Amino acid sequence: MTPQVKAFFDQETFTVSYVLQEPEGLASAIIDSVLDFDHASGRTNTNSADRIVDYVRDNDLRVEWILESHVHADHLSAAPYLQQKLGGKIGIGDQIVSIQETFGKIFNEGTEFQRDGSQFDALFREDDSFHVGQLRGDVLHTPGHTPACLTYVIGDAAFVGDTLFMPDFGTARCDFPGGSSEMLYGSIQKILSLPDETRIFVGHDYKAPGRDEYAWETTVGEQKALNVHIGQGRSIQEFVEMRDARDATLSMPRLILPSLQINMRAGQMPPADEKGDVFLKVPINKI
Ligand SMILES: [Fe+2]
Repeated sequence: MTPQVKAFFDQETFTVSYVLQEPEGLASAIIDSVLDFDHASGRTNTNSADRIVDYVRDNDLRVEWILESHVHADHLSAAPYLQQKLGGKIGIGDQIVSIQETFGKIFNEGTEFQRDGSQFDALFREDDSFHVGQLRGDVLHTPGHTPACLTYVIGDAAFVGDTLFMPDFGTARCDFPGGSSEMLYGSIQKILSLPDETRIFVGHDYKAPGRDEYAWETTVGEQKALNVHIGQGRSIQEFVEMRDARDATLSMPRLILPSLQINMRAGQMPPADEKGDVFLKVPINKI
């Protein structure tokens, strides 16, 4: 089954969001949406999300799922906004509870912040399946970048989030709390064991040396042959050494503090104060 996949690229955060449509029907799923956020002013806007709303409405699609590959650290999720406009259930990996535990502590969220994943409509685990209309989706647990990362395999399309990037860019960082380059290696092997012709849709693209265009679609076969970090049967030792050395040089994503506080709540803002105003925290020397 070959679903139709429409990509939406956000140049501010280099994120690719997707709308997947079943081959012979109007059922659809949205994967990894973006709520625009200007950190300097603290203002959100829905320009990116509205492109998806317009596309769904223009094509008369019926949104069944709003899926997150993981708790993103570099952009805010627009899942609640899209759900309010379009419907659909918000899904993420069941290991979200460990992310909520870790960051609930770091942000000193107190007992009113539930750490049981109940902010989401569905919590998926390895080997779970779901449907988008007639089309079946399968869940792979692919930790490493974060403990809760999932890959959604829907028809011949695999949405890999931040595990693999385009072959000429490589793989995702593994240095966030709960991340592990050994685990990422194993997760990537799981993705690479899918049929070679499986289409892979990546969660970000940053271009790559010698490439001037953004790109986000590749295949399992191409990744196996060409991925600069893991292709050609690279060994786990070689990968882990390379990944850990490279991660030690990376700075934190610009939007990590707002992103985590909002995305661990399924894209909802923290509770408003008695005047109805919403604030985010900046924990000092914690991350
Ligand atoms: Fe990420």
